[in-house]
Amino acid sequence: LLALCLPVQAAERAGPPLTIVVPFAAGGPTDALGRALAAAMADSLDRKVVVRNVDGAGGTVGAERVAKAGPDGNTLLLSNIGHATSMWLYTALRYHPVDDFAPIGMVAEVPMTLVAKPGLKAATVEEFKALVRTEGNRLSIANAGVGSASYLCGLLLMDMLRTELTSVPYRGTKPAVMDVMNGHVDLLCDQTTHTLPLIRSARLKVLGVSAKARTAELPQVPTLDEAGLAGFDLTVWHGLYAPKGTPPETVAALVAGLREALASPSLTAAFASRGARPASPGDAQPDALQAQLASEVQRWGEILRKAAIYVE
Ligand code: MLT
Repeated sequence: LLALCLPVQAAERAGPPLTIVVPFAAGGPTDALGRALAAAMADSLDRKVVVRNVDGAGGTVGAERVAKAGPDGNTLLLSNIGHATSMWLYTALRYHPVDDFAPIGMVAEVPMTLVAKPGLKAATVEEFKALVRTEGNRLSIANAGVGSASYLCGLLLMDMLRTELTSVPYRGTKPAVMDVMNGHVDLLCDQTTHTLPLIRSARLKVLGVSAKARTAELPQVPTLDEAGLAGFDLTVWHGLYAPKGTPPETVAALVAGLREALASPSLTAAFASRGARPASPGDAQPDALQAQLASEVQRWGEILRKAAIYVE
């Protein structure tokens, strides 16, 4: 019976694939969420779903690709908190992060970890603060490009430490983590979706968790707030977007597919094993993502205008 069913299913999935654009390098945290989501949405939508990594410039190259794609429901963007900051950081952005997209829904929330090369001469936030006082900008911090989640976390860190560390940009945190593990760069803020196994196997040293509460997957690791950076509170949120102009019935079908995917046992297990919390049904819909994006654009606008960092 299975043999008889398979060709039918293959034929049903033979139409144009749904492409989820991940605007960062393969193997990193956005990619991990994207691949779990693609597998679950292939089932919920009963169509082929592929992930395409369109990386560069802190996620803005991939976002532009989707903003300018045909509004036919075949190309979506999976992006994070950074989508709300790009308009404040890039003076020559060739798309509008709010106006050029049709939101589908929130996807997940993920805490970050401040991690370091295994040989860093600090094992706690207090020791790290002392190291910063003597080393200053001889210490380097990697990120996934201006405006990425890792970049924003680094910015908050430097702001709190009242210091400038040497910022080293990559096309995603996968290559960034490689250089931190190898000791070429000292530090990185990255999501648990990527760092959990590397912390557990001691390939990265962890100094703290970026969210307000500890994460269940790393119960022994303090939050940055409790370890000596009072008030540190950053959780990365991820949303799924179609290009503006996507017909309402196509958006509705994608929303239904997203919600069903987020409730599937395979996705729930994949997210949970990496410390990611899937969006609730109430958040996995356009209005919730629209509201989140609008409030984050405003919040980060205030923070970033103060920091006065711009990329031409
Ligand atoms: C970031 O914004 O730092 C990204 O999550 C990096 C990535 O997915 O590689």
